[in-house]
Amino acid sequence: MSVPTNAAAPPRPELLRIEAVQSGYGEVTVLWGVDLVVREGDITALIGSNGAGKSTLMRTVSGLVRTRAGRLLWRGQDIGQRDPAQMLGMGVALVPEGRRLFGAMSVEDNLMMGAYLRRAPRADLQHDLDQIYTLFPRLKERRAQAAGTMSGGEQQMCAIGRGLMSAPRLLMIDELSLGLSPLLVEQLVEALTVLNREGLTIVVVEQDVVTALELSDNAYVMDTGRIVRNGPSAELLNDPAVRQAYLGALAH
Ligand SMILES: Nc1ncnc2c1ncn2[C@@H]1O[C@H](COP(=O)(O)OP(=O)(O)OP(=O)(O)O)[C@@H](O)[C@H]1O
Ligand SMILES: [Mg+2]
Repeated sequence: MSVPTNAAAPPRPELLRIEAVQSGYGEVTVLWGVDLVVREGDITALIGSNGAGKSTLMRTVSGLVRTRAGRLLWRGQDIGQRDPAQMLGMGVALVPEGRRLFGAMSVEDNLMMGAYLRRAPRADLQHDLDQIYTLFPRLKERRAQAAGTMSGGEQQMCAIGRGLMSAPRLLMIDELSLGLSPLLVEQLVEALTVLNREGLTIVVVEQDVVTALELSDNAYVMDTGRIVRNGPSAELLNDPAVRQAYLGALAH
């Protein structure tokens, strides 16, 4: 057997595999058999038009919406149906669309809510909190402020920080940039890049297709509950069909 001399690096191990997953709400089916793989250490982007089912997919992976068919594999193991606390305990954290902070509670209390399932010593939690304050100094300045009175960008930092306080292996962010200024989006992208460089695996749902594809290693395009395209983000960015459908006037 000959050994190829210029073999590409082996693909990174799979952290999450979604296979033929169907789910929905009540009588309504939203996901019609979704396949998606998230590899360890990657940033994976999920894009697609409004109502495509991106948030439903994030909620299904988080255990908030039940899987009706198909399966979820976590590090190669079929994990069956888990509830949100179990998924969080395994290391899957969701930063939900709309952030869902506790508006009357302080920033720091919101951050600490992320750690409610951890049985870590106080010193470890304090260490992680300090890391988040280093990543987002604005949160440190505003640690005692009611989360609901912060700007949209600060709230997004707080929601990401809360997700990080669960010490996740996979951080999923539903709508990273929605409603935020370009400068803030740039800061958030930079923060995610730092976290990823430190080894965190990230899935990001993002309306801004250019931001999504520039930030990520791999991307999936969703339409009406199905994955219609996927591949390395750099390739999708140059894919005429993706440019035509999602970049509108930018297409050429
Ligand atoms: N709680 C719910 N009950 C019933 N139907 C729902 C619920 N949440 C979402 N849906 C429906 O599921 C479909 C997919 O919605 P979902 O929020 O997953 O899409 P999305 O891709 O995240 O859209 P957006 O880009 O607008 O956030 C839509 O038709 C929506 O109306
Ligand atoms: Mg959504």
